[in-house]
This record gives sequence, C-alpha cells and structure tokens, in this order.
Amino acid sequence: MSGVTLSNLSKTYNPGSKDSFHAVKGIDLEIRDKEFMVLVGPSGCGKSTTLRMIAGLEEVSSGDLRIGERRMNDVLPKNRGIAMVFQNYALYPHMSVADNMAFGLKLRKTPKSEIQNRVQEAADILGLTEMLGRRPKALSGGQRQRVALGRAIVRKPDVFLFDEPLSNLDAKMRVQMRAEIAKLHARLNATMIYVTHDQTEAMTMGDRICVMKDGKIMQVDEPIRIYQSPDNLFTAGFIGLPQMNFLKGVVEEDATGVHFVISGVQELRVKLTDQLSGIARSNRAVPLTLGIRPEHFALCTEDDPAAIPAEVEVGEPLGAESYIHLLSKSGDKLIVRLSGIIQSGVGQLLCVKPDLENAHLFNSETGQRL
Ligand SMILES: Nc1ncnc2c1ncn2[C@@H]1O[C@H](COP(=O)(O)OP(=O)(O)OP(=O)(O)O)[C@@H](O)[C@H]1O
Ligand SMILES: [Mg+2]
Repeated sequence: MSGVTLSNLSKTYNPGSKDSFHAVKGIDLEIRDKEFMVLVGPSGCGKSTTLRMIAGLEEVSSGDLRIGERRMNDVLPKNRGIAMVFQNYALYPHMSVADNMAFGLKLRKTPKSEIQNRVQEAADILGLTEMLGRRPKALSGGQRQRVALGRAIVRKPDVFLFDEPLSNLDAKMRVQMRAEIAKLHARLNATMIYVTHDQTEAMTMGDRICVMKDGKIMQVDEPIRIYQSPDNLFTAGFIGLPQMNFLKGVVEEDATGVHFVISGVQELRVKLTDQLSGIARSNRAVPLTLGIRPEHFALCTEDDPAAIPAEVEVGEPLGAESYIHLLSKSGDKLIVRLSGIIQSGVGQLLCVKPDLENAHLFNSETGQRL
C-alpha cells in the first residue's frame, strides 16, 4: 500500500534569517494508494515545495510525511520508492534514449538483463522503441518528455511525482500527453501526484484535486465536485474557464420575496430562489457575493424578475458556443456562455438572467460559501 500522508506539514525556507519564508503552512492531505492527485494553484502557492518534500529534495521543517506505513521525513530520496518527472526533462545530452532510461538502474547496480527488459517494456508503453538509439537532441519536445517518463517508469516506483511535466510543450502536444499520462496511470496502477497551475489539467487528469493558495489547502475533492460546489471564492474563481462571475450585494426582503440587491452604478434587484432565499435570510447582516458560472445564464426579457440588463463589450462566437463579455447596469463585468453562434454588436443592450438553481452565495469577507 503506497498512499502518501501529509500531517501538519510545513516548510520554512531560510529559517531564522531575514529571508525566512513560510512556503507551506501546516497542510494535512491524504493521497490514497493508486490515486491520481493533482496539486493546483497559482505561482508561488507552494506546490513544488510540497512535492519536493515528498521526494526528499527539500527538508521537512515540521510535521509528518508518510508513504505507506513508513515515516519518511528523514529517509534518503533514493530509498523512498518514488520517481520524479520534471518540467525540463533533465536528460543527459550525450547519452542515447536507452541509456538515459537505464541510467538510474545502472547506478543501483540492477542486473543488465533486467535493465534491458525494463527499458524495452517502458519503450513499448511509450512508443519509443524506434528511438532507443537516438540522442535527446534528435527528438521533439513531446518525445523528450516521454523519455523522462520512461526513466521514471523503469524504476517501478510506488509513487510517481510530476512537477508541471507538460508546460514546455505546445498546446496540441500538451493535450496529447495529458491523455497519455492518464492512460499510464490506468496501466501502471501506481500512486501519482501531479503538480500544475493549469486548471484544465487538474480537471481532466485528477481523481481528486487539491487546490492550494499561499501555502495552504483551500479544498480537496473530485474535479466535478470542486466545480459544482466550490468551498470558497478562491476555489470558485480558480477552477473553471472562463471563470465564475461574481456579483457583490446585500439581501433585502419585501412582500414579493427575498432579493439579492447588487449595489453599483445602478442598483439591480434579482429575486432569489427558495433555496438561496433560506441561505440569504440567515446571513442578512453579511456582505454577500453571488457566484454564477458563465454557462448558467440565459437571454431574457427586461421584465423578468431575475433580469440583469447589460451592454455588450465583446462577443466571441466560437462556433459551438459563444462567450459574451458584458458590462451590467450595476457596473459589473460578466462573461456569459451561450450555446450556438450568437451575433452581438459592441454596445448592444442585452438582458441575461442567472440560473439561480446553480448559483452560489459566498460571505464576501471570509470568502466561505454559505
Ligand atoms: N529555495 C528557496 N528559498 C527561499 N524561498 C523559496 C525557495 N524555493 C521556493 N521559495 C518560495 O516559496 C514559495 C513557494 O514556492 P514553490 O516553488 O513551492 O511554488 P509553486 O507553487 O511551485 O509555484 P510555480 O507555479 O511558480 O512553480 C514561493 O514564494 C517561492 O519564492
Ligand atoms: Mg513550481
């Protein structure tokens, strides 16, 4: 069993000096045996630091790191049963593809025939058999990254660690390699921890996603659950493209029902559904943010009780769908995603209404979803 357990794990760089920096702030995370876990978050949030602590490339400042049952804090990297794949392949230029893949095994004094078998097997899996004799410079970026994967595979590690392995590839290659790594996970049946700042990679590859910010974990869950029920404003805004729309306002109740009142250039009132009304009523004194994904809008008439009148800033007809960038009468920027080709002229007036069954209310001050 090779789950990875982080308990109150912290990293402070240069402790005690004026350059001291608390990069990872006591995180708890349980990565299950054979799980594909994605660590995602903006630049500097501590993803690589976390991964490097698991790998043993960075010392743990405090807390516990376990792989399987074993505490690994002070175990040498080579004895942790892990293999890491980096962004910049780190291949030896003067060695053939086969020798690059075999290098780690040779260092460990693995028998020659065993090395040959493992390299052959990895090359088969990765479609590199024809290229085993080539030097790295005679390979494309995608092929080089495959060699780097091969080098990890031949080690037969319990846990694979990936640090943004696809970020040096062009967009098309990235999509292809994304699928290949997912297939590899299915085939090798190993625990994989994958770091990226790309929310699309996180959504498409992860069994679960761990969203990080400023050295802390914001949410851990399955991709779809994170998408549909983000715990906080940060996660809501980080996962999903185009990003979720946010409208600030307060709650008012009158004889006609509970309304979300969007304060701004011009006050807009949106009548809430029963479910949101209940949540809103119990948070009357709190400044609120209403979050609505771009796909949860529809065109409507001006007299609709949930209508948000707005002006078109940019229309982006993509074919199967259109993104329309709007400036609401309240002065808020919105992006709505409508299916089909919607022709809209700049400055045109449109009314859109949010699908409030799929909207979220957040406490604007704490950022927590209500
Ligand atoms: N060796 C170091 N000494 C001091 N500070 C460091 C060191 N390495 C990283 N940091 C700082 O720790 C924080 C987290 O860095 P880390 O590399 O883990 O971020 P990241 O989430 O991987 O970001 P990116 O997406 O840019 O790779 C950053 O603010 C970084 O500047
Ligand atoms: Mg990093």
